[in-house]
Amino acid sequence: MFERSRKGENALLVQPYPGPVDPALLDEFAELARSAGAAVVGSVTAKIARPNPAHYIGTGKLDEVKLLCEATGADLVLFNVALSPVQERNLEKALSRRVVDRTGLILDIFAMRASSHEGKLQVELAQLRHMATRLVRGWTHLERQRGGGIGLRGPGETQLETDRRLLQKRVEVLESRLEKVEVQRTQMRRARLRNELPRVALVGYTNAGKSTLFNALTQSGVYVADQLFATLDPTVRRVEALDCGPLVLADTVGFVRDLPHELVAAFRSTLSEARDADLLLHVVDAADPLREARIEQVDAVLKEIGAGEIPQLLVFNKIDLLDEGVQPHREQPVEGTGKVWVSARTGAGLDLLRAALAQRFTAQRLVGELRLGPVQARLRARLHALGAVCGERADEFGWKLQLDLPRAQAELLVREKGGDALEALLAAPAAPTYNP
Ligand code: GTP
Repeated sequence: MFERSRKGENALLVQPYPGPVDPALLDEFAELARSAGAAVVGSVTAKIARPNPAHYIGTGKLDEVKLLCEATGADLVLFNVALSPVQERNLEKALSRRVVDRTGLILDIFAMRASSHEGKLQVELAQLRHMATRLVRGWTHLERQRGGGIGLRGPGETQLETDRRLLQKRVEVLESRLEKVEVQRTQMRRARLRNELPRVALVGYTNAGKSTLFNALTQSGVYVADQLFATLDPTVRRVEALDCGPLVLADTVGFVRDLPHELVAAFRSTLSEARDADLLLHVVDAADPLREARIEQVDAVLKEIGAGEIPQLLVFNKIDLLDEGVQPHREQPVEGTGKVWVSARTGAGLDLLRAALAQRFTAQRLVGELRLGPVQARLRARLHALGAVCGERADEFGWKLQLDLPRAQAELLVREKGGDALEALLAAPAAPTYNP
């Protein structure tokens, strides 16, 4: 329903900064603008000790921006800060051009990338909330949602009031739809929990290579692009052929520095894949000069969404881009965090990553031999139905079963009638492992 594409728009970037300007900030900002489909025609930095309540930047700088707009032919001005609705409005008036702040820009990119039903609903809701405070322009396009529209406009009601009310109605509709989707998702998650497969979530700074790694590990085709935020919807797949048995892998939306707070909330369910995981694969672009800072920024967001305590395996990706010729390798854990060096593109080191995953989860599986007598045929049938039997021999006393199943599942079976035969096997010490 909203105008989303900024294709063909010429954008001038304004980067306000309080202290020494960090060139990486501008690079990332330009990348964001390009992700939104804008052509960057120029950029300007503005030293701001204290933001001006009317225009954020001072009047001298405002004149400079205006001149630059004219000189470069910019029809859009992007500010790499969160502007107040008043500031945005004043700037638009003073510059006679559309002004979009960092939050609006990120929302715009999210809107272009959202592909699932839920993703689209979430983005629209976040956009509406963002716009609710900015209802100043002609919102005639909202008219389309009025349906019959009878009785919608009260006597003497201004266009702005009508718009506010329509917007509020739309927010309510979206909220109730999202609630439904969330119930479905919870049910799906419960079903998965019943299967007790270990859950692993890929997290990391945007563009680190999560989707590429997801594809490489699951051999599926998820949208991969050299654009920020290529992933918006949680994508969940099974990873097979690991020594520890299958596990569930989830791809999540890329993190950015200073992710606007309202977006963290809007993407709660996307990020809940990370919150519910047994292990996080924290993907880092090894070739990024700012990689240590990125790791800290991702950790800060993880903390914010309540995933700060989940064990992590740091995956340094894109080693093919490092000139010092770093070979794929695995570092044994130091202070609880293991590290693996890989290239999702060339596949180098993926065997080491798989081995690290398998090692991490072996402890969660019950592997061993179980003897069952003829009276235990029911348990034998249950184990077969669960796919937990990898080998079986029958003799005059009954059966000898080679088992491989998640320990949690075995614990559930013990609680069932006739499942106590598994108890001794469960009590045996588990295979040694390390915890990344
Ligand atoms: P967001 O969805 O923005 O969070 O990105 P992402 O982390 O999912 O990154 P994605 O997999 O989309 O990869 C971003 C870019 O990096 C793409 O152009 C990939 O082809 C590239 N890339 C990913 N892995 C590697 C790698 O191992 N080596 C090289 N050279 N490029 C890679």
